[in-house]
Amino acid sequence: MSKNTANQLSETRVFKPAKEFSKKARIQNMAQYRALWEESVKRPDKFWAREAADLCWNKKWLKVLDWQEPFAKWFVGGRLNVAENCLDRHLGTARQNKAAIIWEGEPGERRVITYQQLHREVCLFANVLKRNKIKKGERVLIYMPMIPEAAIAMLACARLGIVHSVVFGGFSAESIKDRVADCGAVAVITADGGYRRGAIVPLKANVDAALKDGGHPVKRVIVFRRAGNDIHIEEGRDVWWHRELEYVDANCPPVPLDSEAPLFILYTSGSTGKPKGILHSTAGYLLGAHISCKYVFDLRDDDVYWCTADIGWVTGHSYVVYGPLSMGATSLMYEGAPNWPDNGRFWKIIEEFSVSVLYTAPTAIRAFIKWGDEWPKKHDLSSLRLLGTVGEPINPEAWMWYHNVIGGGRCPIVDTWWQTETGGHMITSLPGATPTKPGTATLPFFGVDAAVVDDNGQEVPPNTMGKLVIRKPWPSMLRTVWGDKARYKKTYWSEFKGMYFAGDGARRDKDGYFWITGRIDDVLNVAGHRIGTAEVEGALVSHPAVAEAAVVGRPDEIKGQGVVCFVTVKQGVKADYALRDALKKHVRTMIGPVATPDEIRFAEVLPKTRSGKIMRRLLKQIAAGNAVTGDTTTLEDFSILAKLGSAED
Ligand code: PRX
Repeated sequence: MSKNTANQLSETRVFKPAKEFSKKARIQNMAQYRALWEESVKRPDKFWAREAADLCWNKKWLKVLDWQEPFAKWFVGGRLNVAENCLDRHLGTARQNKAAIIWEGEPGERRVITYQQLHREVCLFANVLKRNKIKKGERVLIYMPMIPEAAIAMLACARLGIVHSVVFGGFSAESIKDRVADCGAVAVITADGGYRRGAIVPLKANVDAALKDGGHPVKRVIVFRRAGNDIHIEEGRDVWWHRELEYVDANCPPVPLDSEAPLFILYTSGSTGKPKGILHSTAGYLLGAHISCKYVFDLRDDDVYWCTADIGWVTGHSYVVYGPLSMGATSLMYEGAPNWPDNGRFWKIIEEFSVSVLYTAPTAIRAFIKWGDEWPKKHDLSSLRLLGTVGEPINPEAWMWYHNVIGGGRCPIVDTWWQTETGGHMITSLPGATPTKPGTATLPFFGVDAAVVDDNGQEVPPNTMGKLVIRKPWPSMLRTVWGDKARYKKTYWSEFKGMYFAGDGARRDKDGYFWITGRIDDVLNVAGHRIGTAEVEGALVSHPAVAEAAVVGRPDEIKGQGVVCFVTVKQGVKADYALRDALKKHVRTMIGPVATPDEIRFAEVLPKTRSGKIMRRLLKQIAAGNAVTGDTTTLEDFSILAKLGSAED
């Protein structure tokens, strides 16, 4: 058991929402939450039809749900456009001249883009996509820094029914190459570079490296000039964003799309070496993002809302772009690192823009704690009214610090459990209603029938660990794994009949609150990022010196988990410091800096069962510096345990 889990088990503090907060909230008490939740799972047609009326439709749906397990169609027969919902419908209202995006670049520049301006920018860029002959249904890769143009590119694709796949700027050329091949992207939208901790990330150079071998369908690369670094322009393939704008006007009506039209593909790690392309659809996804912003963040017109996630992750999709804009909210975007130029950057931004809702990750909160209270204390954070966390279980110490030091003891905290696959919040408190306890995501959101079950799919009694499942389809669920229905079915719907298996372990307490303990498959959660151990192993064994590799997580105070690699080298290869560095670099090149190993341990052999399976359980204990306990009777060669004990020095 990790220290965090042990702390959670002994947690008894309860924090009720303040009366003044509840009075103004959309959901004001538990009775209201329970009644709506009951309706949402027992009469989903009624609940979802009412909520869907919040969106603007070109054609109303005929049927709310068509469920052919495990394939769902929501709002069957309806037509709408996501960009129209995020932009056009706010024009001609009081929101027209309201800030849609407030942006701060890492070097310090600022831009405020109103709904009217954002609409214009999106129309212009959509016309650039048309001019470049990119068509509805085709796939486009977006590989950009955190600048408004990333959101503009996404919305322009959505306006035309082009399917975007955003690749996080911290992924490598190899990752771009794999994703282009998997989704058959016809174009890449990128920037010359982006800023990170004062340095320039060479985005365009990574795209060039990804495309250099040919044999891919990319016919166009559109480059936004952000950092001004020198780049190569491939004649006939690459065009500058600003030059393209000279040829287009801002007249671009949104294309009415089927409710089930694919909106985006986002790649995420699973337990095999190959990331899965999670496919989200138009209506259901948008509704999920929209109603969670409505009830969980309870967004209001006077809020300045800041979700600190990068646009390359699902949190950036649902809670920087689609959810808040569909609500007509003001979404703040910051390009760079939280500790640039100093550790107070976030708090300075909050003070200077009067941020009222802050949504960030436990790993960031733990880093802030380490940097010291003096940084937030230098700033006036009294504009904050609500705090949120996402990405991994939050340890009670971090929760309390967030509550006291950042929230001044007055802001409710919504701990939101969800996944790339779920599209939006699934288990979360509602700020005006739910009494919270540090470390739990609390209760299911509307429409979510969550349970903790044993290996036979039977619900377990309170305070018993089990597997987290969802027993009914929900609108923002993934529709499939791109190009691989069988993998979709196998990964999510085959562990238990009729249930979506999330891959997380959890328990419920006596109040029914869900305490998520983390992944139970071979996926690590490093600083809130999902990394498949098989992906890192694949990268390691692709290095000529490596014979075999096994990758496990170990507890890490800041990142939640760290990446530990056990490696055996080929005969004649010297396992030395230089090789260690070379292997770390190799993993960065193959996957990206997010997957950089924290530790590489050379081993003569890896512990295996007699049937040849690597005993990861043992490796995890060794990586964590613990004595090996539990059943080792199937271990083939006991002598190797002793040899595996020494850490990287
Ligand atoms: O293990 C859970 C953890 O993050 C995983 C999903 O990762 P990803 O698809 O990258 O999406 C992250 C942002 C939604 C989950 O399977 N996780 C996410 N939020 C929480 C969490 N674990 C505990 N509590 C949370 N609030």
